[in-house]
Amino acid sequence: MASLRVALLGCGVVGTEVARLLHEHADDLAARAGARLELAGIAVRRIGRDRSITGVDPALFTTDARALVERDDVDLVVEVIGGIEPARGLLLAAMERGASVVTANKALLAEDGVTLHTAAEKHGVDLYYEAAVAGAIPLLRPLRESLAGDRIKRVLGIVNGTTNYILDRMDSEGSSFAEALEEAQSLGYAEADPTADIEGFDAAAKAAILAAIAFHSPVVAADVHREGIADVTSADVASAKAMNAVVKLLAICELSADGAGVGVRVHPAMLPRTHPLASVRGAYNAVFVEAEAAGRLMFYGPGAGGVPTASAVLGDLVTAARNRLGDAVGPRGSWYADRPVRPMGET
Ligand code: HSE
Repeated sequence: MASLRVALLGCGVVGTEVARLLHEHADDLAARAGARLELAGIAVRRIGRDRSITGVDPALFTTDARALVERDDVDLVVEVIGGIEPARGLLLAAMERGASVVTANKALLAEDGVTLHTAAEKHGVDLYYEAAVAGAIPLLRPLRESLAGDRIKRVLGIVNGTTNYILDRMDSEGSSFAEALEEAQSLGYAEADPTADIEGFDAAAKAAILAAIAFHSPVVAADVHREGIADVTSADVASAKAMNAVVKLLAICELSADGAGVGVRVHPAMLPRTHPLASVRGAYNAVFVEAEAAGRLMFYGPGAGGVPTASAVLGDLVTAARNRLGDAVGPRGSWYADRPVRPMGET
C-alpha cells in the first residue's frame, strides 16, 4: 500500500490527540484514505517537556517547523499551532511546495482566509479546516460542499464551548464565573489565553469564518460586532433563571434582505428555556443554518476539547489524502467582492 507523509505542526491539546489517533487508528485510516498516513515530524516550540505519546517515535519531534514543511517527502501538513504567525508563513510555504493543508487555526482563517484559499488554488492543493469551528461537529464541509447549490440566509448558534460551559455551570450549579472558568481550563476547552473565549474573540473569529463560507463574502474577524461574557454576573444568570430563561453567547450571521450585504455579531442573549439552543449544555456547540431550498438545519455536538477536535482534523486529513491519491482537489474559496459587511442594525 502507498504511504503519504504527514507533518504535524503543534503538539498541544489537539496535536497530541492527532498524533495519538494517527498511531492508534493507523490501519483504519489507511483503509479509508487508500494510503498509510505516516508521521514525518512533529514541530514543537520546545523539545524539553515530556513528549511521550504512545507509539510515536520521540525522534520525530523538532523545533524547526520551517525545515519540516519544506521537506520534499511531506505530502500533508496539519497545523494546530494557532495564531497568525508563524502559522501563516508555514502554511503558505507548505502549499507553495505542493503539500495539502489541514488546519484548525480559526484566528488565521478569520484574518486572512482569502490569502490561504488563493494560495491553495494557485498551487492546486487542498485546504481543509473543519476543526476551526465547532470542534467535532461536521459543519464547514456541509456548508462548503453539501449546501454549495443552495442560498444560505442565516447561520446562528453557540460556537464557543468555554463560555457555554461557564454560563451552564453558573446556571445549573450556581458556580461562580471564576470557578467555572477554572474547570473549563482544566478540561482543555479554553484557549491558551482564555480572554479570547471570555471576551468573544474566539466566537467572533468563528462567526467570520461561518459568514465567509455561508455568504461567499470575505468577512474577517474585525468586521464582527463583538461582546463577550465578562460582564455577565451571577445575578444576571439568576434573574434569567427566574424568568425561565438562560443566558447564552450567540454568534449571528445574516444575509441582508436584499442579499447585497452581510451582518455578523457575537453577544450574550437571554433565551427562553423552550428554545432549542437553551438546552445546549457544557462545552457543546449548536448551529442553526437557514437555507433557501434546504430550509432549517441544525448541527449539534462537542465544540471543544482535544479528542473531539482531533476527530475533525483526522476527517480532513483522510479526505485530503484521498484527493491527493485521486489527483483531485477539494472545494475552493469563492467570494463576491461586492457583498460588504454592514454595521449592526443595518442588515
Ligand atoms: N476555546 C475554544 C472553545 C476551543 O471553547 O470553544 C474550540 O475552538
